[in-house]
Amino acid sequence: MESVLNYLERNQSRFVDELCHYVRFRSVSAQPQHAGDTRACAEWLVNHCRDIGLEARLCPTDGNPIVVAKTPRKKTVARRRHFMVYGHYDVQPPEPFELWTTPPFQPTIRGRSLFGRGASDNKGQNLAHLKAVEAYLKTGTELPCDLTFVIEGEEEVGSKSLAGFLQEHRDELRCDAVVVSDTGMPAKNLPALTYALRGIAAFEITLHGPSRDLHSGIFGGSLQNPAMALSRLLATIHDDKGRIRIPGFYKDVVALTKFERKQLARLPFNRNKYRKFLGVPELFGEHGFTPDEQRSARPTFEINGLTSGYQGEGSKTIVPAWAKAKITVRLVPDQEPAHIIKSVRAFFEKNCPPGVRIEVKAGHGAEPYMVSPQSADAQAALRALKNAFRREPVLLREGGSIPIVNQFKKVLGADTLLLGLALPDDNAHSPNEKFDLDVFEGGQRMGAMLWRELA
Ligand code: BES
Ligand code: ZN
Repeated sequence: MESVLNYLERNQSRFVDELCHYVRFRSVSAQPQHAGDTRACAEWLVNHCRDIGLEARLCPTDGNPIVVAKTPRKKTVARRRHFMVYGHYDVQPPEPFELWTTPPFQPTIRGRSLFGRGASDNKGQNLAHLKAVEAYLKTGTELPCDLTFVIEGEEEVGSKSLAGFLQEHRDELRCDAVVVSDTGMPAKNLPALTYALRGIAAFEITLHGPSRDLHSGIFGGSLQNPAMALSRLLATIHDDKGRIRIPGFYKDVVALTKFERKQLARLPFNRNKYRKFLGVPELFGEHGFTPDEQRSARPTFEINGLTSGYQGEGSKTIVPAWAKAKITVRLVPDQEPAHIIKSVRAFFEKNCPPGVRIEVKAGHGAEPYMVSPQSADAQAALRALKNAFRREPVLLREGGSIPIVNQFKKVLGADTLLLGLALPDDNAHSPNEKFDLDVFEGGQRMGAMLWRELA
């Protein structure tokens, strides 16, 4: 282990250069014009895995290719444990460009941060694991278990291809557990094991009004304005206490245990600092829960986008023909996407104001995830986190979603260890995303120590 850790320490500056190279690819999965950049990123990754000493291949799909890379297998009689390391090389759209201090795909180092879209979510995190394994392979240190890296290119758009891929390759990918670094840690020196993620259900709701935009002076007042109707409809979702009014919405929600509330209360939190960090005049959320509880262990209803009428400069006096909202609902154990989709749809249809036609399109969905932090593997991961970051790790529930982890359980029978390396101020999905270089190094050490603990 000594030589592995030394190797990591000696090679940091090259690793940072490699992360810059990785971040330079515009692998934006949501934007079709970047399909070529996304493919180029996957190809670079395959070659990089080969350079490290892994057996790597590019697996085409109907969408973006999947990178599969394996440690050379030992011919032993004794069964070795097999772990899969999952990550994603696709990134969120970088817009709005004007809010970036330096361009999103020109990785730039300021202080101990590497700025660039995808630096934290998820390129820096999966590269940390690759570097840990490189250290074993390049120093001739025997890995105590078999590893398969699966790095996909559609996580940010719902992992459509990977689900089928798991089915097709389930014999090859069957493993004892999956390791994922795609969640957060509360602070630079405070590592975390995440044992629960929220699920998600996406909707697009459109209210159709007149057959075309109309002169609001000539016709306004004699028909329903779709933007107004949508505002009224959306305003009925929450009550004054921040609770969602959709009948049956909370029916399957598992209450936080005393132990969980105590764990969450241990996290460093300053209300005023948090408020300032978000840039809001006041915090708002479901009454009876702390902000950490609200954003990780309670379900929410969010408008992600709202469009209607004229968006250009100056004014245009119209009654718009339609109004549209993009919505995602975050789910917690044991809420089921199918059931929630049904309830939300029924609520919209029932409460839609008169004079417009409603269209509700359900999009992607994923179940929430929860696993015991008490298992032997979770305990092994906690030891690795502790030794790598030299601090007792905390147990977290996180509000984000990684839909595919449910498939790891269903198809491969494997639990997922969520060992996140993203800091709260990494600006994931926001302008000026960055990855902390000390965390990058700590993550590599954690990756290196993990295999010994898990084996
Ligand atoms: N890395 C995130 C998920 C995440 C972030 C989990 C922070 C926990 C804490 C991932 O890349 C992501 O953004 N997922 C999407 C999934 C969605 C598109 C289905 C999300 O959560 O919005
Ligand atoms: Zn993301």
